[in-house]
Amino acid sequence: MNTQNLPEIAKRTLIHSYKRPDIVFERGKGVYLYDTSGKPYLDFISGIGVSSLGHCHQDLVEAAKKQIEKLWHCSNLYHSPPHIELALLLTQKTFAEKVFFCNSGAESVETAIKFARKWGHTNKGADCYEIISFKKSFHGRSMGALSATGNEKYWKGFEPMLDGFKFAELNNINSVKKLISQKTCAVILEPIQGEGGINPAEKDFILELKELSREHNFLLIFDEIQCGLGRTGYFSAHEYFGVTPDIMTIAKPLAGGLPIGAILTTSKVGENINPGEHGSTFGGNPVTTAVAIEVVKRTSDKNLLNNVRTNGEYLKSLLEKLKERTNGITDIRGRGFMIGVEFNKNPEPIIQKCFENGLLVCKSGETTIRLLPPLITTKEQIEEAVSKLEKAILS
Ligand SMILES: Cc1ncc(COP(=O)(O)O)c(C=O)c1O
Repeated sequence: MNTQNLPEIAKRTLIHSYKRPDIVFERGKGVYLYDTSGKPYLDFISGIGVSSLGHCHQDLVEAAKKQIEKLWHCSNLYHSPPHIELALLLTQKTFAEKVFFCNSGAESVETAIKFARKWGHTNKGADCYEIISFKKSFHGRSMGALSATGNEKYWKGFEPMLDGFKFAELNNINSVKKLISQKTCAVILEPIQGEGGINPAEKDFILELKELSREHNFLLIFDEIQCGLGRTGYFSAHEYFGVTPDIMTIAKPLAGGLPIGAILTTSKVGENINPGEHGSTFGGNPVTTAVAIEVVKRTSDKNLLNNVRTNGEYLKSLLEKLKERTNGITDIRGRGFMIGVEFNKNPEPIIQKCFENGLLVCKSGETTIRLLPPLITTKEQIEEAVSKLEKAILS
């Protein structure tokens, strides 16, 4: 196919749910993407937190090839080795005792909502179905995940939302207390809000939330779809707080870019789900789980996590200096390689300039540029990115 016509064909044939530029990415290697003309782009989005080991990591390519020649699919009616091995690995690397696999972030949030409601029904009665979420949160586009999302912007045109969701303010424990009742089965929270502007939850707030969950007997759900699996310099972002949830959702980087999601639970939650109560045709697919095993082994490696912390601090320090010597940056937030650069105006023109300069970054919230570089990004690549960002700010 003639690659020059592709943007025009895309305009005619694809539903315009995304505003895409008129270039087409053809290949990726490490932290760079290449368009059809061969121009390189330093990828500081990583497919929105997906390609955490960079593009086309050789070990992941090998794992996919090896599995694809053996078995692609056998359905969840049966076991397959990588499915079980990945579940075991995740229980070894996290708080979890039970795992369910699906295909995306939204699907894992849907599943978490179902599991929390089922736990509420079994333990506290059929009226116990309410979930407290947070303003500015983002949990996905399917109806349950959308209903849990604390931003009306995403609801417009799709109302009514599902019944049973209430919204508190992040880092305001009294706003949570006011919403707790006998009907509360869970609180759902991103340890760092990803789409809402890179807003980190504070340690004291999480500790108090955990205490409330014990006192009032509700579940704590951490949505680590964007901030988990090494992104913050901890394998699970919540390790920073020293607190574990009852349910955790993960997805994006889990299989390095192949579609996967997972719901990790304690046994009290997982053992409450019986055959026939939940399912997924593709969830735990042998190829995606074979690749995910390699991703989990590498992103839980102490050396990699230390590098994310050190290089994340380095990135932050360069951004702080950039803030001093340019106009418009008002705040730098985040942890590890999940960084938000807040501007005093809509940063879209700067994002566009970065794009033209060969740097991919994206917006979060209304005034924040989000940086989610691959976890393997070096100091030199950080310097290259900050220099391109500076050029974009000054132009
Ligand atoms: C925190 C969080 N939860 C859920 C989702 C939804 O994931 P997906 O796009 O894979 O459905 C996202 C996606 O950006 C996310 O950042």
